[in-house]
Amino acid sequence: MKKYTNIKDIVNLYETIQKGIQLKKYPLEFSEMGKNKTLVMLFFNSSLRTRLSTEKAAKNLGMQVMVLNVSDAWNLEFEDGAIMNFNTSEHIKEAAQVISQYADVIAVRAFPTLKDKQQDESEFILNSFIKYASVPIVNMESSIAHPLQALTDAITIEELKTKAMPKVVLSWAPHPKALPHAVANSFVEMMQATDIDFIITHPKGYELNMEITKDTPINYSQEDALKEADFVYVKSWSSYNNYGKILNEDTNWMMTQKKLGKSKFMHCLPVRRNVVVEDAVLDGVQSVVIHQANNRTYAAQIVLKQILENL
Ligand code: CP
Repeated sequence: MKKYTNIKDIVNLYETIQKGIQLKKYPLEFSEMGKNKTLVMLFFNSSLRTRLSTEKAAKNLGMQVMVLNVSDAWNLEFEDGAIMNFNTSEHIKEAAQVISQYADVIAVRAFPTLKDKQQDESEFILNSFIKYASVPIVNMESSIAHPLQALTDAITIEELKTKAMPKVVLSWAPHPKALPHAVANSFVEMMQATDIDFIITHPKGYELNMEITKDTPINYSQEDALKEADFVYVKSWSSYNNYGKILNEDTNWMMTQKKLGKSKFMHCLPVRRNVVVEDAVLDGVQSVVIHQANNRTYAAQIVLKQILENL
């Protein structure tokens, strides 16, 4: 693997999922592989799981890790030809090349603004690093994709499924803040790429980018969609067509134990209790969110391992 910015960068998905599960059993098996190699992690936004699990993954492989909250550094300029006489102090052209001298792999987290669809979809931060850095780039959640989370989710479903082709439902949830589409987008792409009976449910107006959902079935009735589900993946996102807007705050879409039935409950975390999902679900035995969060390490580790193999 030369970079990991989208799940399409995975050459053999089934094999990668299996190898991720194997790494979980023997996390230190390749602890010499990353010796004298450095991962630099750049955060334009907050993180708990991605930050800690990716660092742990790198250290399991013997890598050194440096973390920079970008807000602590110089204010970066991304526009080509910009006259930098206002509030940006350093151009990405220099910054990416400089960081590349300190790093063997650069990982970047950069969320969308949810204000300017065209700018967000250009992935200008992630793509600037791809353009100007001279080392592989890992996407730790960008405007439109969260491929480390999606690989984690595939590993989790593969570990916990009790039938060859489980039914998985992606169910929208209410949230007081407008949230990005990245987790949902990458989860949809991952489900399309694996042997899953997959359906999306959300209120009208919350359609994701149709170039991503393609022919994945959408059912506007949550009750119908949830029937006989093996896994229910709950996620909040803002409207895509009415970009970045919250269209309704219909609390009826919150996941409850009654709606969940016998399905397993998944969520990428962080999650707002009793807004997105009720306590009874998160505190119940069908919630696999902690298991899922643990798998973040092994998803990151198999990705970093495959990148190290190609350095
Ligand atoms: N799921 C996830 O990416 O968590 P963090 O935002 O805490 O990294």
